[in-house]
Formats: sequence, structure tokens, C-alpha cells
Amino acid sequence: MIHYSGTPTLETDRLVLRKLEGSDAQTVFDHWLSDDRVMDNLIKGAHKSVEETIKRVTEIVDQYETEEFCYWGIELKSSGDLIGAIDLFHFDPMTENCEVGYTIGYDWWNKGYGTEALSAVIEFGFRTMNIHKISAAHNTDNPASGKIMSKVGMQKEGTIKHMIRNAKNQYKDCAVYGLLQVDYFNDVK
Ligand SMILES: CC(C)(COP(=O)(O)OP(=O)(O)OC[C@H]1O[C@@H](n2cnc3c(N)ncnc32)[C@H](O)[C@@H]1OP(=O)(O)O)[C@@H](O)C(=O)NCCC(=O)NCCS
Repeated sequence: MIHYSGTPTLETDRLVLRKLEGSDAQTVFDHWLSDDRVMDNLIKGAHKSVEETIKRVTEIVDQYETEEFCYWGIELKSSGDLIGAIDLFHFDPMTENCEVGYTIGYDWWNKGYGTEALSAVIEFGFRTMNIHKISAAHNTDNPASGKIMSKVGMQKEGTIKHMIRNAKNQYKDCAVYGLLQVDYFNDVK
């Protein structure tokens, strides 16, 4: 059974993973949601106005009322900067599987933060929530995302042609990765 546990604060060496707050909206917009360099790698694309981000952050904050909602802002311990977000979603009660998604602001790429956040959320998903399998998919023209999946032990299962069509009306081939709880525990023991 999945042990839904809401969005508790998680800590790593350099990061605090915490709930977003309404007052984060401008930073979320400035640090990643308005940035094509970041958002072109995701389905929905960049926000054009902070009003869109306020609406999105409000939707997120409202969902913290339910224990079945796992969405963290990623904050740097050293500066207090909010640099990205990560979530677990699509919980399937039949399989007890879910998916993970993440975004780091461009200024903080390639410093290991994505890997550190993903590792903490995978640990939480398996150890606290008892998820059976965690999956993710990345556009094949976004190899950095596949790199962090590999670095936390997720295995590539295949490539799906034209799996998504993004906000710029482009079809993208996606590489699909997954990690079973049983394999995770065998590896970390
Ligand atoms: C994917 C993303 C979260 C990675 O975050 P990050 O903090 O930069 O990740 P890390 O620094 O932990 O690791 C990045 C790795 O990718 C590698 N990398 C970067 N660009 C690469 C490229 N073009 N080809 C191959 N590897 C690349 C880095 O070298 C690093 O690996 P290393 O530590 O072995 O050197 C970030 O780039 C991002 O937010 N991108 C836009 C949104 C997105 O793609 N979200 C995921 C959608 S599936």
C-alpha cells in the first residue's frame, strides 16, 4: 500500500526541499518558469507573465491540503535561493507506481543539485511512501535529464517516438527510465 505522507521538508547536504508558498511566485517565475532555456525541455513551455505563475503556485499550495500531493521547492542552504522544483505524481493505486518530475533554474545547472534533489525524493518515495516503481521520461534532445536519472540508479527502458507534443507544437521522442523499489533497496543496502 502507498503510505501517502504529503510534502514533508527533506534535507540533503546542500539543499532543503520544502513546500512552495504563495510568496514564492515571483521567484519561481524569475528563476525558471519564464525561462525558455529551461522550459523548452518540458511539455507546457515558459510562462509569459507572472500572473500565470501566481495561478500555478496557488494551485500547488492549495493541493498541500491533501496527503496525496508531493511537490517540493528546492532551496539552497547556502543562500536561501529557491532554485527549482521536484514532484512525485501520477500515483497509481493498482500498481503503486508513480512518476517523478524536476526542474532546476538555468543559473544553477551542472552543479549537482538536480541529482541531489532527485536522490532525496527517490529515497522518500521508496522508504517513506512505499512506492513500488518510480518512472520518468526525458526528451532525447535533453540528455542532462537522462544523466541524472542514471546517476540515481534509474534504468533506461526504451525510447518512445513522438511521445509528447510541446507548447511550441514540436513532437519529441522521449527516453523512458524506471527504478523498482526492490532494485533500489538491493543497491543501497
Ligand atoms: C535536467 C536538470 C534538472 C539537471 O539539473 P542539474 O542540477 O543541472 O543536474 P546535475 O548537475 O545534478 O547533473 C547534470 C549532469 O548532466 C550532464 N550534462 C549536462 N549537459 C549535458 C549534455 N548536453 N549531454 C550530456 N550530459 C550533460 C552534466 O555533466 C552532469 O553530469 P555529471 O555530474 O556526470 O557531470 C536541469 O538541466 C533542468 O532543469 N533542465 C530543464 C528542465 C528539465 O529538463 N526537467 C526534466 C524534464 S524530464
